[in-house]
Amino acid sequence: MTLRPIITLPDEKTLRQVSRPVAAVDAEVRKQWDDMLETMYHAPGIGLAAIQIGLPRRLLVIDLAKDGEEKQPLFVANPEITWKSEAQSDYEEGCLSIPEYYEMVTRPSEIRLRYLDRQGEAQELHATGLLATCMQHEIDHLDGVLFIDHISRLKRERVIKKFAKAQKLGKL
Ligand code: NI
Repeated sequence: MTLRPIITLPDEKTLRQVSRPVAAVDAEVRKQWDDMLETMYHAPGIGLAAIQIGLPRRLLVIDLAKDGEEKQPLFVANPEITWKSEAQSDYEEGCLSIPEYYEMVTRPSEIRLRYLDRQGEAQELHATGLLATCMQHEIDHLDGVLFIDHISRLKRERVIKKFAKAQKLGKL
């Protein structure tokens, strides 16, 4: 497993890319998942999309286990949301690509999705609570969407400017 640098704002050129599905879950995909998982645990974070380490492939890793609990990594390829609940929930979201910035985001409280697991088997999942939120946040990344796209334009422009300025000053 290799720790990879995480791409952050202001690099929208990378983060806004639409990722491509993988043709199959092969050894290369599993190696990329392992690198993503190590990178996510190190950050630390609870979800990571491949584009966040510069790979435009539809791959995610998620682990919602709390500190001290046994790890429960979820490896997801080519996810597709097949149903979203009308009921919505608010969560304060953050993103490893937008460090130290948190905002409330409203999303459907429950979703159903299809994806390929680590063995390349098709899986269906009904996600609720934090998993539903995290899944939607990560799937957004595969389409070049960031959680700040779900908040007001004023707040979004402010945070993007802040990261552009920090980069200019050599603080990133
Ligand atoms: Ni994110």
